[in-house]
Amino acid sequence: MKKAIIPVIIFSCICTSCVLSKYTPYQNTKFTSNREFAGTEMIRQEFETIRRVLRVLEKATDCLDNGQQIPAETFQGILEIISNFSDKRHHEKEDKILFPILKDKENGAKRDFLGQLLMEHVTSRDKIRDLSGSLIHLSQGKKAKKKITKIAYAYIKHTRRHIQTEEKVLLPWANTVLTHDDQILLKNTFGELERDDIETGVHEKYITMLEGFEKQLEIHPES
Ligand SMILES: [Fe+2]
Ligand SMILES: [Fe+2]
Repeated sequence: MKKAIIPVIIFSCICTSCVLSKYTPYQNTKFTSNREFAGTEMIRQEFETIRRVLRVLEKATDCLDNGQQIPAETFQGILEIISNFSDKRHHEKEDKILFPILKDKENGAKRDFLGQLLMEHVTSRDKIRDLSGSLIHLSQGKKAKKKITKIAYAYIKHTRRHIQTEEKVLLPWANTVLTHDDQILLKNTFGELERDDIETGVHEKYITMLEGFEKQLEIHPES
C-alpha cells in the first residue's frame, strides 16, 4: 500500500515545468492609481505576494517533513525570492521610507509600535540567515532535515503574524494620519527605489520564479 502512495506524493511535491509571468507585485492598479491611499496600498499589495512565497515555502517544508526529497535548489530559489523581495525590497520601503514618515505623527504616539515592527524585521532576517545556513545539511539525514523544517516553520509563523499586524493595525492607522501629500511622496519614493529593478526586469524574474515553484509544488494561488 505504501509503495502505491509514495509516487503520488512525490508527484504532488515535484513537477518541473514553469510558466512565464505577466505579474508585478502591484497587480491591482485600482488602488495604486487612487491618490488617496497610493503609497500604503503599494505596501499592502506586496503582502499578497509575500503570502504566496510563504505558501510555497510551507508546501516545500511539509514535503520535506513528510520524508519527500526536495531539491536544495528549490529551497535556495525560494530563499532568493524571500531575501531579494520580501526582505530587501519590502522591508526597505518600511524601514527607510514609511516608518520615518510615520514616527512623528500624533506626536510620536506610535514610536514604540514602529520600533517593535523594526525589531521583527531584524528577527526575520536572523531566521532567513539560519534557514540559509541549515540548508547546507539538507542531504545529511533526518536530524538535519528536522532542523530545517523547524526553522522554516518558525519563519513562516513569524512572518504571517508580522504581516497580519501591519495589515490590521499599521496600515489602517497610517491611512488615517498620512496626508494626501505624504501618500504621493511615499508612492514616488517607492517608485524611485524600485526603478532599477523594474527597468532590469528583477520583479518579473522573481514573480516568474514564484509561479514556477507554485506549479512545481502544485499550489493554486487563486484557490
Ligand atoms: Fe514589516
Ligand atoms: Fe510589511
